[in-house]
Amino acid sequence: MAQIFPKWSNKITKALLWTTLVTVCSITFVFWYWFSPWNLEVGYEPVQPVPYSHKIHAGMLGMDCRYCHTGVDKSAVAGVPPTQVCMNCHSTIKADSLNLVVVQESWKTNQSIPWVRVHKIPDFAYFDHSAHISVGVGCVSCHGHIEQMTEVRLEKPLSMGWCLECHRNPAPHLRPLDKITDMNFKTDLAWEKVAKAKAATLHPPVESCSGCHR
Ligand code: HEC
Ligand code: HEC
Ligand code: HEC
Ligand code: HEC
Ligand code: HEC
Repeated sequence: MAQIFPKWSNKITKALLWTTLVTVCSITFVFWYWFSPWNLEVGYEPVQPVPYSHKIHAGMLGMDCRYCHTGVDKSAVAGVPPTQVCMNCHSTIKADSLNLVVVQESWKTNQSIPWVRVHKIPDFAYFDHSAHISVGVGCVSCHGHIEQMTEVRLEKPLSMGWCLECHRNPAPHLRPLDKITDMNFKTDLAWEKVAKAKAATLHPPVESCSGCHR
């Protein structure tokens, strides 16, 4: 049978197929990447199931962060407190408040409160709170002034560039270990010297990709 198309046209068809495939894949990736829940923008402030306020509890009442986020200096995750912790006080304080109905309900039914996650990095990157807390990086460096927020808001981009910026020069973020949760810690010349010396002994991963991508 006579060839309708010359031989080289086979190559073109193949190339066309490949281009289409690659384009489709790229578009899928871009959509998947940008609309994945981890790619949150600074300022993200979801409505929570309970009008719980850090401004009241951590700010006005001066509660330490670790009263509720008990995992933060011991493990990778800080953890959000179980309803039991709220009931330590709210079984009596404002027990009949409408703002606490969901908390009381959760306590009665033993179903945890469906808090909406605000800070999240993708699974292919590794983060550990205790590794940071134990060397003296304070909460405020990475979360902003939580104690002034009525609703938690994302203050930092949590991007790779943001991680590396501090890893290249952590000294300004270091503080005494008993000031980790002090949201208003101020450095002075004497501390800056100590922090610089301490930073020189630390080795946060920068070039080593496997430090964060394990
Ligand atoms: C009385 C308990 C309590 C105390 C004290 C407390 N928190 Fe929280 N925290 C919560 C609860 C409940 C949530 C989840 C609801 C929300 O996001 O508001 C939360 C959420 C957060 C989140 C966001 C978690 C996410 O989803 O990404 C951060 C960050 C945080 N707290 C930091 C702090 C810091 C820093 C302090 C101390 C200055 C502190 N918290 C003190 C109870 C507490
Ligand atoms: C150490 C005690 C204590 C703990 C623990 C505690 N709270 Fe509170 N909470 C208070 C106090 C005190 C107030 C302020 C009451 C007032 O305005 O008179 C308050 C106020 C509130 C209010 C506003 C109530 C209203 O009607 O104005 C909410 C909602 C609330 N807390 C939720 C929570 C949640 C959720 C938890 C657990 C993550 C929690 N609290 C843990 C002491 C506590
Ligand atoms: C070096 C930066 C850094 C510091 C310091 C830090 N955090 Fe975080 N925090 C993060 C990142 C990044 C995430 C998201 C982690 C993830 O997705 O696995 C996060 C998530 C959280 C969460 C929600 C998820 C979880 O791990 O349970 C809470 C609550 C929280 N941090 C509280 C705190 C408190 C309280 C402190 C201070 C005692 C603190 N963080 C100090 C970077 C930091
Ligand atoms: C504000 C400063 C700061 C920020 C922001 C920060 N880090 Fe770190 N990181 C440090 C310091 C300081 C160390 C301690 C290094 C040491 O112990 O030698 C460290 C250590 C680490 C380690 C090694 C500890 C271990 O468990 O092996 C990892 C992994 C890490 N950081 C991941 C991250 C990731 C991922 C982010 C961003 C989401 C991030 N860090 C953001 C300061 C920071
Ligand atoms: C300090 C921790 C850290 C180190 C070191 C690190 N990364 Fe990342 N990387 C991250 C985090 C966190 C993200 C997620 C960023 C986001 O969600 O926007 C990420 C994302 C990425 C992505 C996805 C695309 C993007 O930009 O979001 C690639 C690819 C990547 N890293 C490659 C590398 C390579 C290659 C190296 C070594 C040269 C490296 N990373 C070193 C923390 C790190």
